[in-house]
Amino acid sequence: MSQRGRRRRRRTYTLQVLWIVVAILATVGLIIGYKLGVKENDTDLNSVVNAAEHPTQIVVENTATPVPTLEPTTEPTVTPTVTPIPTATPTPEPTPQGPYQVYEGDKQDETQNGEVVTPTGEAEKPTEEKPEKTQKMIALTFDDGPYPPVTERILKLLKDNDSHATFFVMGNRMDTYPDTVAQAFEDGNQIGNHTYSHKDLSKLNASDIAYEVEHSNELINKNAAVGDAYLRPPYGAKNDTVRSAVKVPMICWSVDTLDWKSKDKDAIYKEIMDNVKDGDILLMHDLYPTTADAMEKVIPELIRQGYKLVTVQELLEANGITPEGGTVYYNAR
Ligand code: NI
Repeated sequence: MSQRGRRRRRRTYTLQVLWIVVAILATVGLIIGYKLGVKENDTDLNSVVNAAEHPTQIVVENTATPVPTLEPTTEPTVTPTVTPIPTATPTPEPTPQGPYQVYEGDKQDETQNGEVVTPTGEAEKPTEEKPEKTQKMIALTFDDGPYPPVTERILKLLKDNDSHATFFVMGNRMDTYPDTVAQAFEDGNQIGNHTYSHKDLSKLNASDIAYEVEHSNELINKNAAVGDAYLRPPYGAKNDTVRSAVKVPMICWSVDTLDWKSKDKDAIYKEIMDNVKDGDILLMHDLYPTTADAMEKVIPELIRQGYKLVTVQELLEANGITPEGGTVYYNAR
């Protein structure tokens, strides 16, 4: 072969290699770009959701105008020529700061409202063992989501352990994370309603309460056909107006894991193991990676201790309780 021919061949070869490199870089860029896009979107969403909770930032508005729905982030377009070159390995999700702290969890409502908690259902009936219930049962519940980086980890853990939980989702997240909600429902979990924008219902009038609950329920049903979802009132806050305006069962909790406060998987684990008993409803939030971390250890351990992890509805029904609209349930004892 002539020298010219060799040179031409070499040039063709170099071009081919170049194309392969460009293709690889473009793919990597697309993946990283997409991940960044999702993260950025979450941050935006959390700030907006939380802005509604900051007393200093609350804008008094007519409830007819809902908080603007966030546009789902479109996939970032990455042109093959401008390829972002990853200099380091992608870092795992950072521990959420700032915006995530604003919810301050849901306060233990019993103490907050100074109410006497009357055990529902069982206690009024004559003591009679239910022969069909042979296993200890509890309901794990997760509020304020969905937030895919955490929710999806929990969904997988539940599935891998043949367990179910209840997710009390935010109405204003339904358009952004439709797939996560649909997946949770499809897996056999219960989807509950945590209102449209996490307002303290005990400070609203009847029509505003109805809007927060019903508008959210409509949005939830676009992703999961749950019908009239059970409600978890934000902060566990309720009063007589809430009780009469809400037409679905209201679900509070008997074990507060304080996951929003500790953000520490060992602390969450300890809180649960020290307090859990048959019929409990446990409060958590699928916003924090530490909550998912804790679940990796908590779920198998609860099963080892003989607990069956079921949805709130299953828990109540297995204990002979028929949930009623406007009634508050703290556990299934
Ligand atoms: Ni909440």
